[in-house]
Amino acid sequence: MKKILITGGAGFIGSHVVRLFANKYPDYLITNLDALTYAGNLENLKDVELLSNYKFVKGDITDESFIDNFFAENDFDAVIHLAAESHVDRSILDPMSFVKTNVLGTGILLNAAKKNWDDKSNKLFYHVSTDEVYGSLGETGFFTEETPYDPRSPYSASKAASDHLVMAYHHTYDLPVVISNCSNNYGSHHFPEKLLPLMINNIIHSKPLPVYGKGENVRDWLWVEDHAKAIDVIFHKGVHGEKYNVGGFNEWKNIDIVHLLCKMMDRKLNRVDGESAKLITYVKDRAGHDMRYAIDATKLQRELGWKPSLQFEEGLEKTIDWYLANKDWVSRITSGSYQQYYEQQYSKR
Ligand code: NAD
Ligand code: TYD
Repeated sequence: MKKILITGGAGFIGSHVVRLFANKYPDYLITNLDALTYAGNLENLKDVELLSNYKFVKGDITDESFIDNFFAENDFDAVIHLAAESHVDRSILDPMSFVKTNVLGTGILLNAAKKNWDDKSNKLFYHVSTDEVYGSLGETGFFTEETPYDPRSPYSASKAASDHLVMAYHHTYDLPVVISNCSNNYGSHHFPEKLLPLMINNIIHSKPLPVYGKGENVRDWLWVEDHAKAIDVIFHKGVHGEKYNVGGFNEWKNIDIVHLLCKMMDRKLNRVDGESAKLITYVKDRAGHDMRYAIDATKLQRELGWKPSLQFEEGLEKTIDWYLANKDWVSRITSGSYQQYYEQQYSKR
């Protein structure tokens, strides 16, 4: 049985990756290591818990002695590393926790793999990263795998540093690695601090919809299950030492997405057309706000045969339906420290 460690499996993307791997590969033993921070939630994996090839371990990737023992006790064949602090706005409030988890935590995992993998053939350290490491685009052009790194937020700088560490372990110690850099994901189980779930939740509760600046920033949106499928393909077919960009070929200005959501949700909530859009409130821009992200994912398409499967409006419809059917999930995960964060982030904007 192949033993795979997935870090951050209780988070948004991680839970989709765990679900895909545990169901699709009954001969893999999947261990999900997660510290269960505010963003991690075992409720995301209720359907997976019953599978005999899945187990959960609570633990922190920044705890070096714990990680060293954990690797020594478990003979992992591969790591898929998703655990991270992931929200740009939080990185502006508290950069050091991003340095700790994303840089130090990744370094500790790499070191444990290096120390424990005497025979490196058939091993793999797969690092899941973001397109934000490339910086910000003007009105034209795309990020390719050759685009120089130019991270501009504490979040993206910490992810860029972790990507560099991964490649350094490959070049220096021959650690078999692969990295993917993905655009903005959306779908079920997305923590409601991020744009789409935040807007959906606020529309449901008729709360103001805080659009940063003029709402003209552009993001490239990808259905989270398509990202999980890309990770599956890259994990199995990716060339070691290579990077792969993953994206939706699906660019939207923030304000256009918010209008689209309002229109779709007016219909679903039996509101008069235009009612939800009245909640749109332009607020002070994010510091250092990156203007545009757009991924060129043709390498992944050409070399490994992956492409996104779902049209954006179909994915949005499914996402909205999931949030409407799971209001209890949202209230539970937003009931703790999130209220304080929300106040701090939005009350004075
Ligand atoms: P998330 O914030 O939803 O989940 C992160 C998970 O990591 C949580 O379960 C959390 O408990 C866990 N975690 C945090 N610190 C930890 C620690 N010290 N030890 C162990 N576990 C810890 O994040 P996400 O949106 O699912 O992103 C997952 C990964 O994908 C991240 O590495 C992120 O940089 C990357 N990524 C995200 C996006 C996106 O659109 N969300 C896009 C591209 C890449
Ligand atoms: P976000 O979901 O935080 O992802 P990222 O910053 O990693 O791309 O934000 C997506 C876009 O939406 C980004 O341009 C910032 C903007 N935004 C708002 O306008 N209002 C909000 O309340 C949030 C959270 C984001």
